[in-house]
This record gives sequence, structure tokens and C-alpha cells, in this order.
Amino acid sequence: MVKITVLGAAGGIGQPLSLLLRLNSKVSELALFDIVNAQGVATDLSHIPSTQKITGYGPKSKTDITQLQAALKDADIVVIPAGIPRKPGMTRNDLFKINASIVKSLVHQAGLICPNAFICVISNPVNSTVPIAVEELKTLGVYNPSKVFGVTTLDNLRLEEFLSLSIKRATGKTVTPAELRGDVISIGGHSGSTIVPVLNSWARNLSSEVYDSLLHRVQYGGDEVVKAKQGRGSATLSMATAGYRFVSHLIEALTGDSVVDEVAYVKFDELPGQVPDIVADNVSYFSLPFKLGKTGVKLITFPHSLSDKETGLMAVAVNQLKDEIARGVNFVHPSK
Ligand code: NAI
Repeated sequence: MVKITVLGAAGGIGQPLSLLLRLNSKVSELALFDIVNAQGVATDLSHIPSTQKITGYGPKSKTDITQLQAALKDADIVVIPAGIPRKPGMTRNDLFKINASIVKSLVHQAGLICPNAFICVISNPVNSTVPIAVEELKTLGVYNPSKVFGVTTLDNLRLEEFLSLSIKRATGKTVTPAELRGDVISIGGHSGSTIVPVLNSWARNLSSEVYDSLLHRVQYGGDEVVKAKQGRGSATLSMATAGYRFVSHLIEALTGDSVVDEVAYVKFDELPGQVPDIVADNVSYFSLPFKLGKTGVKLITFPHSLSDKETGLMAVAVNQLKDEIARGVNFVHPSK
């Protein structure tokens, strides 16, 4: 049985994600923490019949960390959607100033209180907040490369959905998103041109015009939602669905004997498995497919052969990622 702690649980992502976790019978304890209203959300969810224990925590004063520590105690998985979301016209990098400190302080406490937990970072800019989490855990001496993830599952959900629509448009044939799942993946980072959709043989179905519009929609799908919500936040419901898909696989890996296939933004250079040279020669973080077991990432799997177009996209992605990774590392070690 598994204890999950959600940090930022009262937010646009935190609430529906906590709802989905409330409905998972393998979660024995759900601890919700937020600087506002986590107790209210926990009380609301506690009326949904379940054998699961659910608790809400919020700081009693600006400097109080006891409630955060109580929420983290004995956690197996810590999920972090805390921080501010984008407004129209903002890039994910515009969030760095505020979210970098939030992620650093929350991961610091997680490293102290539940050093063996899986850490799943949702807060943007993921390309930089994951390096912050890794460096913070390293300074505490509790970093485990197999257990720290940037959640990029939403890029995969978008790819599966939008490619299914594109194939229908191009060929008239119905290929469901579920059929595409696993066969196509989004790798790279989690922002604009760092997102690299790998289409495998499905690319053959698409004209270059359809391909280009698919690529743009996968890379900039987040902007579509930010614009449509007109200043009232970014992707929350689709992100909660994506976050749940990833976390439920972690739960499966933790509680069963099976090995699960997943994709997430990881520091891959200390993990077993091969990555393409263009990635390994330039960066140490990348969203990649892997096998997930009880102890975390078991093996990076890179089964897809890349088209020339995809290789070109990888080159663009690693270039941008270099700076964004450095920004995260420098935030924790200003002198490095
Ligand atoms: P939101 O503003 O609705 O919720 C954020 C929550 O975090 C709020 O309830 C707030 O009180 C809480 N919070 C702020 N500081 C905190 C702290 N120090 N400790 C605990 N809780 C704290 O924002 P939303 O829409 O839920 O987005 C959250 C984050 O997720 C944003 O950074 C957003 O950019 C990111 N995001 C990531 C995606 C991904 O694919 N990885 C997709 C969509 C959004």
C-alpha cells in the first residue's frame, strides 16, 4: 500500500489530481498540502467512500514547516504541482522566478523527511525545476537518479490525441489514441521547441502540411489552453489526467511485480540504457522512455528510429535545453 503526498493540492491541477488519487484503491494514504485550503479539499474528498486515509495540511504561520513535514512523513510518492501557472503572453520560463524557490524549498523538505520517496515535479518550467530538485537532493546527500521525474506525460497525451485526429484528416482512417499509445512518444523537454514528437511509422500517413500543423499543436498545445482560458490559468484537467496516468504507473510499479513502460524528463547520465549521441553529448537531462520497477527507472529504452526531421528537432531541443538546465543548476549553486 502506498502513501502519496500532493504539494500544491488545492490548485487547478492539485484538486482534480487528488480526486483521481482518492479513487485509486492501491493508495492507502493521501496527504494534501497547500499554503491555502488543503484541509478544505481533503474534507471534501473524505466524503467519497474509501478505505483510504486522507489528510489536509497547511502552514500555521509564514515560517511554519511542521505541517509540510507532517504531510511528507512516510510518503512513498511526492507529487509537486505547487506554484504559479501561465497567463496569456507568458512563457514557462517567465514562471522561473517564483516557481524555482517553491520547488527548491518543497524538495528540500521532501529530501529531509522522506528521502526514499519518488519525486514527481509538475511545476513549470519543468526543464529547469527538475535540475533544481536534483541539485537540492544532491546537497542533502539523498539523490537517487532512478526516482526523480519531470512529468511530461501531457505532451504524450496531446501527441496521441492530435495524431489520431491528423491521421483521420489525412487518410479518413480511424486510429484511436489508445492504439497509438507507446508506439509514438514525445521526448526532449517540456516547452515549445524542446518537445520532440517521435512518430515511428505513423509519419508516413501524413503530408508535410499535416505534419507541420501536428508538430506545432503538440509543441504549443499549452498556449492553446492558456489563450482559451483568457487569463484564468493553464492546462489543469488534462494535466491532472496526465499526472494521474504517470503516478498510477508509479503505484503499479511499486505495488506489483510488473515492469511498466513510461516516459518522463529524467537526469539520464547515471541511469542504465542507451540514449542517442546527439543527446548524450550535449545534455544530461531529457524526457525519455524507460522501464519502471519497484526501485524506479530500471532501463532507458530508446527503441524508436528517428527520421531526419526528428533528428533535426532533437538538435534544436538540446540547444535550448542546455541553457534551461544550467539555469536550474545555477539557481541551487549560484557559483557553478
Ligand atoms: P494553481 O495556481 O491553480 O495552483 C497552484 C497551487 O500551488 C495553489 O493552490 C497554490 O496555493 C499552491 N502553492 C503555491 N506555493 C506553494 C508552496 N510553497 N507550497 C505548497 N503549495 C503552494 O496552478 P496550476 O494550474 O495548478 O499549475 C501548477 C503548476 O503546474 C504551474 O507551475 C504550471 O505551470 C504547471 N503545469 C505543468 C504542466 C506539465 O505538463 N508539467 C502542465 C500544466 C501546468
